[in-house]
Amino acid sequence: MNAVLDIHLTDGDADRALRADAREGLTSRPKQLPPKWFYDARGSALFEKITELPEYYPTRTEAALLERSVDEIAVASGADTLVELGSGSSSKTRLLLDAFGRTGTLRRYVPQDVSESALRLAMDALAIEYPDLELHGVVGDFTTHLDRLPRGDRRMVAFLGGTIGNLTRDERYAFLAQLRAVLAPGEQLLLGTGLVIDDEVMVRAYDDAAGVTAEFNRNVLHVLNRELRADFDVDSFAHRALWDAGNSWIEMRLVAQRAMSVHLAELDLTVGFAEGEEMRTEISTKFRPDGVQEALEATGYRVAHTWTDAEDRFALTLATAG
Ligand code: SAH
Ligand code: TRP
Repeated sequence: MNAVLDIHLTDGDADRALRADAREGLTSRPKQLPPKWFYDARGSALFEKITELPEYYPTRTEAALLERSVDEIAVASGADTLVELGSGSSSKTRLLLDAFGRTGTLRRYVPQDVSESALRLAMDALAIEYPDLELHGVVGDFTTHLDRLPRGDRRMVAFLGGTIGNLTRDERYAFLAQLRAVLAPGEQLLLGTGLVIDDEVMVRAYDDAAGVTAEFNRNVLHVLNRELRADFDVDSFAHRALWDAGNSWIEMRLVAQRAMSVHLAELDLTVGFAEGEEMRTEISTKFRPDGVQEALEATGYRVAHTWTDAEDRFALTLATAG
């Protein structure tokens, strides 16, 4: 088969990182956990269900934007390699792959994700659907492993889904600068960002009626129970999503429904939760279009084109490393 998989994040690395993140996050005030630990096999599957929820407009909106723009993007790009960060199921990427198929420059697709299970599932399907495409998967962390991405003659890096919004402002600028540093002048970034819209519409996208997002949020506790032999009573944590206007982000929290003492055997750590105590598990920053442009220009990119939907819910920005 025409596919390779690089592991930049071994089980041992992930285990060490999870231990450090859990110890630090659960002993700080307020408590918090980094979002990448949502995505074990179950978490990745739950995220796929989120993308199909009626309330979760970002995926649908971005897919429609891609449909409108992919041919223009592929023609302007001429890339031989498409790298995608946080590629997940690569569902929307197929639109790009098909457009590049029409222009004929693309040789290779490099999906990168922290979730090995999601990456393997996606690659197995892509290998069948795109038999002529070289697949080079990378299990890695886009906040630390960008320098190990495979090179190409001319790469386009896609970072879709609004995932950049899961970083804080400082992390976002650091991420964009690190990515810029590994790109050659002229290589491109295709960035998907959620825009600021009506609060209620945004919050509902992260707090759906069927409770899938709640289950996804609580999944991080299942991960800690399994990986760190913790004893979180998962059902005693409620999901909460709120709009933080000052920070321009949706914040996801888990709220302890009663006072609890939780033991993490692998860390030899016991942490207490007060009734009503809230732990932050995720932020999802929403942007104003000029905020995206500003961050890109400040970190060494030139914006070539921005597409937004009729309701200004989502933006797709094509930028060139200057
Ligand atoms: N790009 C897809 C998935 C978005 S969900 C879409 O647009 O629908 C975010 C994805 O990023 C998940 O697949 C998750 O496993 C991955 N991810 C989260 N944190 C990551 C990190 N630090 N490094 C690499 N991948 C990460
Ligand atoms: N990148 C997605 C977003 O911010 C991830 C996501 C969707 C998410 N729903 C979530 C993360 C719920 C945590 C909880 O839109």
